[in-house]
Amino acid sequence: MRILLCGGAGYIGCHTYTVLVERGHQVVIADNFANSSPQVLARLEQVTGKPVPFHPLDMRDRPGVDAFFARQTFDAVVHFAALKAVGESCERPLDYFENNISGTIYLLQAMRAAGVPRLVFSSSATVYGEPESVPVREDAPLRVTNPYGRTKLVMEELIGDVCRADPHFRAANLRYFNPVGAHASGLLGEDPSDTPSNLMPYICQVAVGRREKLRIFGGDYPTPDGTGVRDYIHVMDLARAHADALDYLVNEDRNLTVNLGTGRGISVMELVHAFAKASSREVPYEIVDRRPGDAAEVYADPALAQRLLGWRAELDVDAMCRDAWRWQSMNPYGYAAGRVEEDRVEEAVSLV
Ligand code: NAD
Ligand code: WQD
Repeated sequence: MRILLCGGAGYIGCHTYTVLVERGHQVVIADNFANSSPQVLARLEQVTGKPVPFHPLDMRDRPGVDAFFARQTFDAVVHFAALKAVGESCERPLDYFENNISGTIYLLQAMRAAGVPRLVFSSSATVYGEPESVPVREDAPLRVTNPYGRTKLVMEELIGDVCRADPHFRAANLRYFNPVGAHASGLLGEDPSDTPSNLMPYICQVAVGRREKLRIFGGDYPTPDGTGVRDYIHVMDLARAHADALDYLVNEDRNLTVNLGTGRGISVMELVHAFAKASSREVPYEIVDRRPGDAAEVYADPALAQRLLGWRAELDVDAMCRDAWRWQSMNPYGYAAGRVEEDRVEEAVSLV
């Protein structure tokens, strides 16, 4: 298939690129680098051994999106492009609505006009808010607790409406739990531009010496060790699920909404210890107050993804920590540190 990855230069998009290329697809990346670096493209060329087809595109630029689709043919789009910081979304809700929701509307309109028949959408466990019970199944009540989450829920709903209006259009909503880890090469990984708000990149930066200590938000949750429990999933397992979802849309010709998690809850403290073991580094921490809005325990029931896609997570928490550490120790300052010259990036890319 010829597949467009909107937001494909980001953390999950670039890992997914490697899996799709490995499976023999022709893959094109479109991104505006709002939260990523062109350096990723040079790394992708290194990993895959081929120039990376790339189109600079801002999803908010409706004429630009229309023009691109008018002259390109795709069998499917995977839509990663979104702003994703929960705290920032509370400060700048309109920017989140514009970027995430308007961008998705323009994308869907251009896809409909160009007759692109399939969409895989990056949804999130955030649509469950604070779940009533765990493990969380796809039919659990949806109730979001912040503007970022609201954009994900609205986007799922508007994609559903498009599917109802056109019985030939196919879409997959993939509800990711907590993606972590990195590509086994150590060349690709998560590289937050600001202070990390997520746990794993924060731990990585403490272990590599960029930050003094981790603050663990809450030690008095009703969980076995008092710290919050989440379903961390290796980004390469997640990447593989995108390829499987695309196959499902083609072969089964049905729409899809599935959780992508391991089904295993890991506490903050367990992750800290697993990381310390994998990296042979100390991860100093202190326990502080709970972070407002955090649930005690969120983990997936991934049975539906296994049943429909034949997919299940294979990499355990030790592999997640080992690969995250390989990335962080090889790139202590992320993509910026091992920077290649701009003309090298240009050589790595074939503009589409
Ligand atoms: P990321 O920020 O690394 O990647 C998103 C990419 O989209 C970036 O390269 C960014 O530059 C690009 N982008 C943003 N707005 C754009 C626009 N208007 N036009 C073009 N490109 C744009 O994030 P990620 O972690 O790779 O997440 C990918 C998707 O998965 C997002 O939709 C996110 O909401 C969703 N998701 C992420 C997580 C997580 O914890 N990482 C969990 C659940 C869901
Ligand atoms: C995990 C655990 C924290 C940082 C968020 C979004 C969600 C999804 C994934 C996009 C919690 C604790 C964290 C720190 C800590 N993203 N923690 N110290 O909150 O489960 O989910 O990212 O869709 O929408 O809300 O992930 O990594 O922020 O937190 O103790 O410095 O680590 O309290 O228990 P979360 P997280």
